[in-house]
Amino acid sequence: LQHIPLFQELAEDDLNEIAPLFTEKKVKKNTILFVEGDIGEELFLIQSGVVKIYRLDESKEVTLALFRDGDFFGEMSLLSSGMTRSATAETMASCILYVLNRTAFTAFMEKSPRLCLKLLETTMQRLRHANDQIYDLTFLGVRARIMKTILRLSEQHGVATPQGLIIDVKLTHQQLANLVGTVRESVTKVLQELLDDELISIDKKVITLKNIEAIQAELR
Ligand code: CMP
Repeated sequence: LQHIPLFQELAEDDLNEIAPLFTEKKVKKNTILFVEGDIGEELFLIQSGVVKIYRLDESKEVTLALFRDGDFFGEMSLLSSGMTRSATAETMASCILYVLNRTAFTAFMEKSPRLCLKLLETTMQRLRHANDQIYDLTFLGVRARIMKTILRLSEQHGVATPQGLIIDVKLTHQQLANLVGTVRESVTKVLQELLDDELISIDKKVITLKNIEAIQAELR
């Protein structure tokens, strides 16, 4: 638990108290953990793996977040009384999750101001990100939105290598389109432009940013 940012600032006594309350859950890739509209009774922490948070229309999907090791989710329905799951959660890789039930979560929140502050801090970051998405969808064209999404993914899932910053999540063009709020064809076209401009490289659905400065400069 010490490696999970939400708990990093907890005193050791508190950590020792909360640790046994978690249940470990090993899940395979492409497992739906809960569906939008479900009653939410659990908070999830990711020990390892990737989880996609999304909402569905009849035929389309919009991806709200991609979470990985150290992230938590499922807090919204626990903290907004009477509200159900605001989105669906599905694993994109095999995952080890820690699950905490509502009673334990609430009891711990009441006890630990540090935990509450950390939770609020993360919520504010997520709200900022949601505001950015509203801004980008309103004002930016598809090339800029794709570039911003790739940059954001590299901040969250990036691994530095001599070749550049690798985004450590396998994404199809359709999955990237769902994150950006566009169609697959536009992603294919823009990724080809970025490849031609040598800003990125792609190997087996993994994108590497070869020239971050040039990408940032274009977005300025
Ligand atoms: P909950 O509503 O219980 O179930 C879906 C979860 O997805 C939600 O809690 C949050 O943890 C997470 N979530 C929903 N919307 C967003 C968002 N815009 N950004 C990041 N995480 C989100």
